[in-house]
Amino acid sequence: MEVNEILKEASKKIYENVKDLPGTENAAGDFGRGAGGDISRNIDIIAEKTVLEFLKEVNFECVVLGEECGRVELSKNPKGFVIMDAIDGSANSVRGVPFFCSSLAFAPENRLSSITDGVITNLTNGDMYWASKNKGAFLGDCKIQVNNKEPIYKIVGINTSGAKPELMRKLLPIFEKQNHTRHFGANALEMAMFARGWMDIFIDLRNKIRIQDIAAGYLIVKEAGGLLLDENFNSLDADLSYDTRVSFIAVANQKILAEVFSDIE
Ligand code: IPD
Ligand code: CA
Repeated sequence: MEVNEILKEASKKIYENVKDLPGTENAAGDFGRGAGGDISRNIDIIAEKTVLEFLKEVNFECVVLGEECGRVELSKNPKGFVIMDAIDGSANSVRGVPFFCSSLAFAPENRLSSITDGVITNLTNGDMYWASKNKGAFLGDCKIQVNNKEPIYKIVGINTSGAKPELMRKLLPIFEKQNHTRHFGANALEMAMFARGWMDIFIDLRNKIRIQDIAAGYLIVKEAGGLLLDENFNSLDADLSYDTRVSFIAVANQKILAEVFSDIE
């Protein structure tokens, strides 16, 4: 099996195994703090176990970097890292808000820029977004691309969850000028929505995003023709460590970037 087939199959299995859980008490069961620093919920644990069991079953020689389970070495001779956020949008999934996904990526080296495969599955309807390096980005069998046309309504995705007051002050001109700001609560799925052209820019400058939240989206955005920048507008890259936190801007083109950030210092 090719790597992207393995990731797709693993995320299909997550979809199957968690589909009756969202919004139930069973989803919310508390398993203490996971490796990523948040409380692991039962739904997170079930989803992660699904992936770990499948990777073992197909004997995929890798090191898993899971948001809850931490680093799990499935081989002494690994081909690389499977970067796993088995449930992105955990709060939505526990409350039953229909916006959460799984995010799985493969990187042969310890850098985001080495990612070769990424799969994001919308766990509320099974839509599967995926990309393989230099081969494009897809939703199911259809190629996807960021929106490069002049948008009828410019949709500005912006994650402000837990943002510090200084950041909110800095971003105020965006809220003032842009009438269509959005935040849905699952970064990976928002990156996928951006990649298919449903948003023109997605901004998260909180410096809170973990590698697990961004890994699959990183490749999908780039393969869909988007720019993926850090807070200084340089090309985003980072190592895969558990301590790494990033800020990022996914944007369709320089023109949109200039329009949205024109009044920001
Ligand atoms: C969270 C979501 C959310 C973002 C948080 C992430 P999780 O991921 O992506 O949109 O605001 O920073 O931690 O915890 O649900 O996997
Ligand atoms: Ca998660």
